[in-house]
Amino acid sequence: MIEAQNIHKYYDNLHVLKGVDLHIKKSEIVSIVGASGAGKTTLLQILGTLDAFDSSKSKLAINGVNIGSLSGKKLAKFRNENLGFIFQFHQLLPEFTALENVCIPAFIKNTPKAEAVKKAKELLSFLGLSHREDHKPNELSGGEQQRVAVARALINNPAIILADEPSGNLDTESAENLHNLFFKLRDEFGQTFVIVTHNEELANMADRKLVMQDGVIVK
Ligand SMILES: Nc1ncnc2c1ncn2[C@@H]1O[C@H](COP(=O)(O)OP(=O)(O)OP(=O)(O)O)[C@@H](O)[C@H]1O
Ligand SMILES: [Mg+2]
Repeated sequence: MIEAQNIHKYYDNLHVLKGVDLHIKKSEIVSIVGASGAGKTTLLQILGTLDAFDSSKSKLAINGVNIGSLSGKKLAKFRNENLGFIFQFHQLLPEFTALENVCIPAFIKNTPKAEAVKKAKELLSFLGLSHREDHKPNELSGGEQQRVAVARALINNPAIILADEPSGNLDTESAENLHNLFFKLRDEFGQTFVIVTHNEELANMADRKLVMQDGVIVK
């Protein structure tokens, strides 16, 4: 699913990623932990094709596609069709309902409206949110908003979901429910996840836990 080799990233003179190797298989849940500033978000942004890397030394293939060979619209299309994102702050669009927020990546992919709405309703139902689908984000609890973000990440059947501190903003019970949901999605749909987290419990539940330190994976 993900084959990353010798990933380097510089912000001007700051060498942030210093040769990261990462191999992730289908249906795996991999957690990445490490101190603040270790480079976790930077790595996730690169895996998410949202940030560039030093392509002279580094190689990144996702779902068999060489990411270094894509740019502009092709890269955006690849991202829309292959990757789902969940962030610490859900980043739902405030003026749209839960249902509309979930549909947006499908509309970007040019999925016919009726089909997108049907799929979005199925996902919201699976996530226990059918009764909240016409509400806007500010009318939902934090845990509900985060589940809407999960549905949005899933709507285009992404190969991989990348999550950065997905439960960082939730109370213990909502966090636990969200973590269980990730494993349910893995078990029922074979969903692959890469999750950056400071939550020890979630990190330890993963199939593999990787530790980042000063720009490299140390174990
Ligand atoms: N856009 C940027 N420009 C310059 N430096 C940056 C930029 N983004 C991140 N950095 C620096 O790169 C390093 C790694 O940052 P990153 O956000 O990847 O850390 P992190 O492991 O996710 O930390 P945290 O656990 O606090 O979220 C830090 O020293 C940070 O200050
Ligand atoms: Mg971070």
